Amino acid sequence: MKLAHVVGARPQFMQAAPLRRELEARGHREILIHTGQHYDYEMSRVFFEELGIPAPDVNLEVGSAGHGAMTGRIIEAVERALLETRPDVVIVDGDTNSTLGGALAAAKLPLPLVHVESGLRSGDRRMPEEVNRIVTDHVSGLLLAPTATAIENLEREGLSDRATLTGDLMCDCYISFREKARRAVVGELGLGEGAYALITLHRAENTNDPERFTGFMKGLAALPLPSIFPVHPRARAMVDLYRRKGGPMGQIRLTGPRSYLEMIALEEAAEVVFTDSGGVQREAYHAGAPSVVLRDNTEWREQVEAGWTYLAMPSEESILSAYEKSRRRPEERPDIYGGGEAAKRMVDAIEARFG
Ligand code: UD1
Repeated sequence: MKLAHVVGARPQFMQAAPLRRELEARGHREILIHTGQHYDYEMSRVFFEELGIPAPDVNLEVGSAGHGAMTGRIIEAVERALLETRPDVVIVDGDTNSTLGGALAAAKLPLPLVHVESGLRSGDRRMPEEVNRIVTDHVSGLLLAPTATAIENLEREGLSDRATLTGDLMCDCYISFREKARRAVVGELGLGEGAYALITLHRAENTNDPERFTGFMKGLAALPLPSIFPVHPRARAMVDLYRRKGGPMGQIRLTGPRSYLEMIALEEAAEVVFTDSGGVQREAYHAGAPSVVLRDNTEWREQVEAGWTYLAMPSEESILSAYEKSRRRPEERPDIYGGGEAAKRMVDAIEARFG
């Protein structure tokens, strides 16, 4: 089979690695189409280099723009790439504008379409990611769901006949790259093993709202331990504004975005992880670090039920209370994400449907 896989944003580069390995092992050909949504070295190329994924076959270089312009450019460019490369099946992954643009281009040609990381719902349609997920699920022919909750969500929308529970590629990725984690970064950043908090904060709903962003920063600055905050490009302007206005930094240290192998080392050695990223939340779980999610809800509810994840509001009181709770680590860490078998189950499902 010839499969085109559309990627464009940071988490998709990581998830491409285990899937490509499994497809190649079974004699399929994957054409990697990079939309160019993420383009800075530390947001894009470093991931391909570290994870040993060959450079994309096609780079569409759409760059940054508003949602409408970016999605429109992606649809147009992906359609052209699909007409040129003529794949049998198209794969999109996650909930970014690259996912939605890739899905619409494929669905309209039409080409058989697979959605990896299908069925996640926050229930909040103000999030661009929620809109992207819902539309992508409804135009895809095969839905590969990472968790039991995702399968339930798809059932509720009448999509269960196209859905398969596969587990999560991020878990496969974590297991296969854990040995290579760049552990030296912890010392280089002057952090003590198990004695710091790791912070990431970049979602539109947090970085577009100064009051909300300030609430989170003030709470994080009040933490009684040192912390490290690798700043995503989207959050840079807000962090600068917060500091210019004299917002307290407490023991927070800022650094640029880190590579994947550095992030997994930082997650493993952290006492606790504060994040609004779904990927970092899951990686913290694999690393055995409790996490506090800086959002009103999470799509990865199983972690909350297992007692490893707490939600926090943008206030000092809420953040400190979540931090205290996170220190009581549960004894059990159940296998929520498929134990590293997701890529295998995905390729089984793709072969069964389209092979
Ligand atoms: C996107 C996803 C988000 C995901 C995140 C992972 C959507 C709607 N959102 O958000 O779900 O968690 O990727 O990182 O697709 N920029 C740079 N350099 C880059 C890329 C972006 O400077 O390489 C800047 C641009 O000014 C851009 C801003 O960051 O406007 C945001 O980038 P964008 O691609 O719109 O979305 P993300 O916030 O990265």
